[in-house]
Amino acid sequence: MPIVLIGPMGSGKSRVGHRLAASAGAPFIDTDQRIVERYGPIEEIFEREGEEYFRIIEREVVAEALHEEAVISLGGGAVLHPDTRADLADLQVVWLRVSPEAVAPRLAGGNRPLIAEGGIGAWTAILEQREPIYAELADLDIDTSRRSVARIVDDITGRF
Ligand code: S3P
Repeated sequence: MPIVLIGPMGSGKSRVGHRLAASAGAPFIDTDQRIVERYGPIEEIFEREGEEYFRIIEREVVAEALHEEAVISLGGGAVLHPDTRADLADLQVVWLRVSPEAVAPRLAGGNRPLIAEGGIGAWTAILEQREPIYAELADLDIDTSRRSVARIVDDITGRF
């Protein structure tokens, strides 16, 4: 069964997913990366077509990925789609948490359109809206703020 990583921007989904897949001998799918490969840079999609369009193509890519036997990291907002939430109910879902203090340096210089202007304040406001969704979907939650990637991977493999 796939292992799916959810959580806010900068929580380490891609870094952890990559290492978790390597240690499990499974493929790794980063849905943001697939979107970029097929449609171009995310900030350009937001700029040209808007967030609503981004969510439509994101759903397509996520729906396809969730059928694969892989470790899958989802963009922070992918859980906003009700069909994705329904799909995740049957899968092994790990919520990566991170504190605002720990995430701030990780977001520096990033290319994330939703927080390009608002920075950490915008990040916190978005998290407040989504936290109940992450909490509802997660089978396991891990605070990544002060844990090494290796330790996080151990925590996940120990559980599934
Ligand atoms: C988004 C998170 C990003 C990316 C897009 C929108 C969001 O992915 O999908 O910029 O809505 O939280 P990461 O969580 O991998 O940064």
